[in-house]
Amino acid sequence: MEDVTGRINRLKREKNALLLAHYYEDGAIQDIADFVGDSLALAQWGEQSKHPVILMAGVVFMGESVKILSPDKTVLVPDLNAGCSLVQHSPYEKYLAWRREHRDAICVTYVNSSAEVKSITDVCCTSSNAEKIIDAIPKDRRILFGPDRNLGRYLAKKLNREMILWPGACEVHILFSDRKLFEMKTEHPDAVVIAHPECDEVILKYADIIGATSRLLDEVKNNPAKKFIVATEYGIFHQMQKARPDALLLQAPANNCACNECPYMKMNTLDKIAHALETLKPEVEIAPALLSKARTSLTRMMAISRGERVEWPAAFND
Ligand code: 13P
Ligand code: SF4
Repeated sequence: MEDVTGRINRLKREKNALLLAHYYEDGAIQDIADFVGDSLALAQWGEQSKHPVILMAGVVFMGESVKILSPDKTVLVPDLNAGCSLVQHSPYEKYLAWRREHRDAICVTYVNSSAEVKSITDVCCTSSNAEKIIDAIPKDRRILFGPDRNLGRYLAKKLNREMILWPGACEVHILFSDRKLFEMKTEHPDAVVIAHPECDEVILKYADIIGATSRLLDEVKNNPAKKFIVATEYGIFHQMQKARPDALLLQAPANNCACNECPYMKMNTLDKIAHALETLKPEVEIAPALLSKARTSLTRMMAISRGERVEWPAAFND
């Protein structure tokens, strides 16, 4: 009898679908995907792919990015409840009011945001291209950055740019405990500490390496150290452990719980993926007018990522 993996592989062929998975998905989902990557790579693969159907095993904003960049493709996300706390922390009306308060500034929005918020944004970024994006903004322009305050603070300090920050945060990455991390580091002084920039500043100050999921994975692959303390979501351990079976990977400790798993990423299952491929539902749908407004911020991000020069609006007009 055909098992769920066999069913997914057959349906992928029948529907000519590409299966993309984020590093935070369960290992079994990562193993069946055509590509596993960070949020920038997933958007790029989705955009460049010739497949008419893209299944995004990730959260909804990741599927929306692919849909906005490739409106003619059918983009599936196995569970449309797979949100993100940063999307929840940046409701459109409030973000718009903030944007209107600072009309002369360039608004940089993390891709972890809704299509509505992207539609009032000058340029998007991910954690892997954020430095390049900010560097492309003329030095005399003020910058609004949202919705992740920790990524924003980290970038402002590192790039020495003044930035007005939106106060959102990731509910997973803010759970790490600096006191317990200090204790872990004292117990394992030879461990390399690697952290995602969505972590609080008190965690980042212990980190030897700060970067997007792909950067953290590269560090584990390429650094000859035998021990790593990893301050990001647990799903990425799957690829890290495969790449470095000889290394000890320790998850950075959380406050009062072992809960550094993203509940939204973990809503996807193999059964839901098979169902989505079978029915071509649930599909990411964005009204055409909103999609075309949201597109500018993502295409500008993609252009800067490719090293192209872009034009900046003089002010926000809505
Ligand atoms: P990356 O862009 O590093 O893959 O991160 C996405 C994300 O949601 C982190 O919480
Ligand atoms: Fe959003 Fe945090 Fe989950 Fe990433 S880990 S998708 S930022 S809630």
